[in-house]
Amino acid sequence: MGVEASPVGHRLFPDGESYIRMTGRVEGEAVVIVQTTAPEQDRRLMQAFMMAETARDLGAERVALVAPYLAYSRQDKRFLEGECLTLDVVMGLIECVGVDDLIAIDAHSEASLRAVEEKHNVRVHNLSAMPLIAEHLKGTGFDGAYSLSPDVGAIHQAEAAARVLGGGCGFFEKERDRKTGEIRMRVEDLDIEGRNAVVFDDIISSGGTMAKAVEGLKGQGASRVAAACTHALLMDEAEERIRNAGADVILATDTVSNPFSGVSVAGLVADYIRSHLNIV
Ligand code: R5P
Repeated sequence: MGVEASPVGHRLFPDGESYIRMTGRVEGEAVVIVQTTAPEQDRRLMQAFMMAETARDLGAERVALVAPYLAYSRQDKRFLEGECLTLDVVMGLIECVGVDDLIAIDAHSEASLRAVEEKHNVRVHNLSAMPLIAEHLKGTGFDGAYSLSPDVGAIHQAEAAARVLGGGCGFFEKERDRKTGEIRMRVEDLDIEGRNAVVFDDIISSGGTMAKAVEGLKGQGASRVAAACTHALLMDEAEERIRNAGADVILATDTVSNPFSGVSVAGLVADYIRSHLNIV
């Protein structure tokens, strides 16, 4: 953005509590805090809250929080009686520490974000990295590939990618057992024999969803298959699971730092702030 970047001093006390010190010029300024909230989520969220509250306390005129990966955004509905709506909790706390604008990338559900935005006094901006990921794939042999969403609710992600890759798009239907976490996928017949294909998802966590989708594509004779996502949490055996399912390529952005972070979202965020937030 061509503005001053001010590192924030932080360390952990022996008992695990965070220490934060902001030494940059804050009073009267618009402050943009950049803090992804990938694991360890609780600690990183707490640090984000501490930075926002401190910026406010030091006289910041406006505070924006960039949380490229927004933790807890998947539990946005009460699937079982008595469940905590974590997205709502996180939004309430973000509001409480004085954040005016929250910028996230491919946060789980646009509809749920709009619903919590109604309840809290925070403007929420949800950017999509799918076109950037597709651009990257286009330059690495996937031009004209078929774009697939592993869930009908996320078809907009495959559609956004297909506008770049140009090979059409579709979806499989995912069902997750709410108690055991087991995933079942209904695989539609697609005309992809001998074609390249890409599965686009917002998150890879255990890799179960991605592995089932890749398997479904390979099972129908797809040639090269890429497993692409915005946030690669890649817990436990996720990478192995996806490779064993037949993925030829794994690609993600840098919202979560990992060996597959081939696409940077820095430009996307900077351009958005410059053109939409009116603070630079
Ligand atoms: C869920 O609806 C998301 O879009 C992802 O598909 C999901 O979080 C991936 O999780 P996992 O890698 O554990 O299957």
